[in-house]
Amino acid sequence: MGFQSRRISPSSGAEMTGIDLREPLDNNQFAAIRQAWNDADGLLVIRDQNISPEQHIAFSRRFGVLQRGEVSQGSLLSQYYLPRHPEIYRVSNKKKDGVPQGREDAGTYWHSDGSWKPAPPMASLLLAREIPPYGGDTMFADLYRAYETLSDRMKDILTPMRAVHSLAKAQETTSYGKDLVGQSNAVVDRYASHPIIRTHPETGRKSLFVNRGFTDNIEGLAPAESDAFLEFLFTHSSRPEILYRHQWRLHDLVIWDNRCTMHYAVADYKQAGDRYMHRTTVRGDAPF
Ligand SMILES: [Fe+2]
Repeated sequence: MGFQSRRISPSSGAEMTGIDLREPLDNNQFAAIRQAWNDADGLLVIRDQNISPEQHIAFSRRFGVLQRGEVSQGSLLSQYYLPRHPEIYRVSNKKKDGVPQGREDAGTYWHSDGSWKPAPPMASLLLAREIPPYGGDTMFADLYRAYETLSDRMKDILTPMRAVHSLAKAQETTSYGKDLVGQSNAVVDRYASHPIIRTHPETGRKSLFVNRGFTDNIEGLAPAESDAFLEFLFTHSSRPEILYRHQWRLHDLVIWDNRCTMHYAVADYKQAGDRYMHRTTVRGDAPF
């Protein structure tokens, strides 16, 4: 299989064509895909993948162990997993006989998937199975460049610092946290502390690991100090100069690296049409 990749953004992002994930990949072919993903700073768009859930899961497993939906009592998230395929989380505005076909308004804020967990997921693979004629883009920020475009003095200041990422932060500002804990509005005690400057284990490069959705405070700073620092970092890491805005085509499979990118789902499409996506999520390591 001869496939090609080309850069599609000055920040994270490359497009790969000439590949068919319905066919088995040998180890050399997979290694080439993984290298292209790292070379593209953690964001790879593979076009034209009209693959089954089984093929999506099998390909995703090449990257690592997959997260599985936990059907926990009272959690509204359980309903969004694909029946008989708990590795696939559905994101959609569609309803069938009044039943949601996926999580609506998922990720409508800057975040790195699950950064509030002690071992946040390494990667996510999102497949477009149905898209509106326009709208419903996903924005990606390049967190390598967010780090690299800080002054050397600021890099030094941030290097020893750690930040607390929490689901409670998301719960305050988004509907995601509320769904995760069921109907309750109670703030849940689910959080993790991570270094603000993160070193990628595959590329050895440093990135800025904070996001407005989940990062709550910087350890050891007074609240006003922490808020001011984080506000600067949130703004710095989502500047247009380091963003790529993905306009989905049908059967795009987008693989992003949660260790060096963050993303924002633009929920502007509901007047335009339906959107139906399947996502798999690759587990990460802890600590980092
Ligand atoms: Fe997300």
